[in-house]
Amino acid sequence: MCGIVGYIGKKEAYPVILEGLKRLEYRGYDSAGIVLYDGENLKLSKTKGKVLDLENKFAEETSTNGSVGIGHTRWATHGIPNDVNSHPHYSNSGDLVIVHNGIIENYASIKQELLKRGYTFTSDTDTEVLINLIEDVKKNEKVKLGKAVQIALNQVVGAYAIAVFDKNKPNEIVVAKLGSPLAIGVGDGEFFIASDATPFLEYTKKAIYLEDEEMAIVRLKKGIKIRKIKDDSLVDPYIQELQLNLEQIVKGGYDHFMLKEIHEQPVAIKDTYRGRLLVKEGIIRMAGIDDNLERILNANRIIVIACGTSWHAGLVSEYIFEDLARIPVEVEYASEFRYRNPVITEKDVVIAISQSGETADTLAAIKLAKSKGAFVFGVCNVVGSSIARETHAGAYTHAGPEIGVASTKAFTTQITVLTLIALKLAKEKGTISKSEFQHHLQELELIPDKVEKALLQDEHIKKVAETYKDAKNCLYLGRGYNFPVALEGALKLKEISYIHAEGYPAAEMKHGPIALIDEQMPVFVIATKKGHYEKVVSNIEEIKSRSGKIIGIVTEGDVDVKNLADHVIEVPETIESLTPLLTTIPLQLLSYHIAVMLDKNVDQPRNLAKSVTVE
Ligand code: F6R
Repeated sequence: MCGIVGYIGKKEAYPVILEGLKRLEYRGYDSAGIVLYDGENLKLSKTKGKVLDLENKFAEETSTNGSVGIGHTRWATHGIPNDVNSHPHYSNSGDLVIVHNGIIENYASIKQELLKRGYTFTSDTDTEVLINLIEDVKKNEKVKLGKAVQIALNQVVGAYAIAVFDKNKPNEIVVAKLGSPLAIGVGDGEFFIASDATPFLEYTKKAIYLEDEEMAIVRLKKGIKIRKIKDDSLVDPYIQELQLNLEQIVKGGYDHFMLKEIHEQPVAIKDTYRGRLLVKEGIIRMAGIDDNLERILNANRIIVIACGTSWHAGLVSEYIFEDLARIPVEVEYASEFRYRNPVITEKDVVIAISQSGETADTLAAIKLAKSKGAFVFGVCNVVGSSIARETHAGAYTHAGPEIGVASTKAFTTQITVLTLIALKLAKEKGTISKSEFQHHLQELELIPDKVEKALLQDEHIKKVAETYKDAKNCLYLGRGYNFPVALEGALKLKEISYIHAEGYPAAEMKHGPIALIDEQMPVFVIATKKGHYEKVVSNIEEIKSRSGKIIGIVTEGDVDVKNLADHVIEVPETIESLTPLLTTIPLQLLSYHIAVMLDKNVDQPRNLAKSVTVE
């Protein structure tokens, strides 16, 4: 949802910003732009397209020297992606320049006011309105840039992470945040600004994450001053030591981040349960749960809120929480939950799931649940993200950075965390026998090796992908624990190959979708031995008798489905509740290979962004 990068220091700013934008391109890739200050002039170049297009254009248009600058990679909200709507945006005087991630909701009324005062606008963006509002305040109130930004932000409604530069005050960049992330990298006599820490990892491991409604004046000589936007109070900067490594954010020999991340799953799952799953001792240790055990155990119900793939992980958890821990669970789209006046009480526990920890709808749903007295537990991947900070307690997935826009290892690590929580609660409640509990722990410990084995099917999956790559529509079917995997499989295919796909509970097929089945329709059916196997086989018979093409995701050694299906892809055997961790692997690989064969941009599919910080 747009990425911003800024630099002020002794280095040439251009390569720092350019490379930083490349790392943030997962946040949006409609257009990109950079402005530099070379000691005399502002030099701005921006373009529709990718950061690579900007790189070509910048060198043609202007020189790249200057040790201060800000840049942007955009996911369009207001105004189509074109050169003019790209960021940075100048103010009317040409002195101020801004990059912005977020949405200014009341921009239209502010624009009207500014138009009356003689301001003109070249773009359709809310951002150009904001920079002119800042300029207007600065002029009329006769204040410095920082104060003008503060006054202006107190007039806007919406979400933002901004970086503003004034060519008359070239030793500082003013930044502010509400609802969109913003990190400041603290180097030796230099500062970095970015939507996440990845653009400055090779320069410094020291970072400050601004909180909502905070702004900072980042001054070359005087350092950083952070204030609350609303009441002007000063905030002590809290400098964190980053745990991220550069190797974690490069492709490491893979053609795409998505492929790398699919292959990282054995390690990511192991990292996620490490220190929590203690098989020998027969315990699960999770500080966020241990510290709040009574509250969670006494919950009337669990409400899971999430979006997209994280919502699918939530659906998987519904099965395991109800099955093992006997706690009623509702799984809600955060975007629906937040607007439908849901019944929430202090006896409810809300689990919010988010890879990025920045999804606007999930964040808003959390705030709503908290305001009604619910206890909110976060399952996030990005450490220190807004959702991680907004929740009462939580457990991180330790998937490492997920850069491919299509979520893969986030999904399996979310399921891992949710399984650990469900098992722990089941044990505490006594709804699972000691031996059953122990068996689950042992099986979970084996999952990384089994995922590794499932990945070995890659060449075979590629051949299957070749067969179905030209399909126009696909169906994905599963039952029980694997119904959400069918939804997830369909989502993966849609988002990266642009082939229409639907996920359904296998038995629902006969209530409508069966009408779609003919010899053109590939149907991916998850039919593992554990979990309604015979019933799924019957569903496969129904497809076969209507000439549908059947691709079965089956347990190693399966015979029945093999006899019926056009293709099968085997996964190792495990207990039913853990099958989603395995069945999802071939579906990820299938989508990946189909998208590559269709020459789609796998890591940056059209119209999407990795972290959706607008509603
Ligand atoms: C799909 C995908 C999205 C995200 C969704 C929620 O591959 O990545 O559907 O799952 O936007 O994002 P997070 O988990 O960051 O809240």
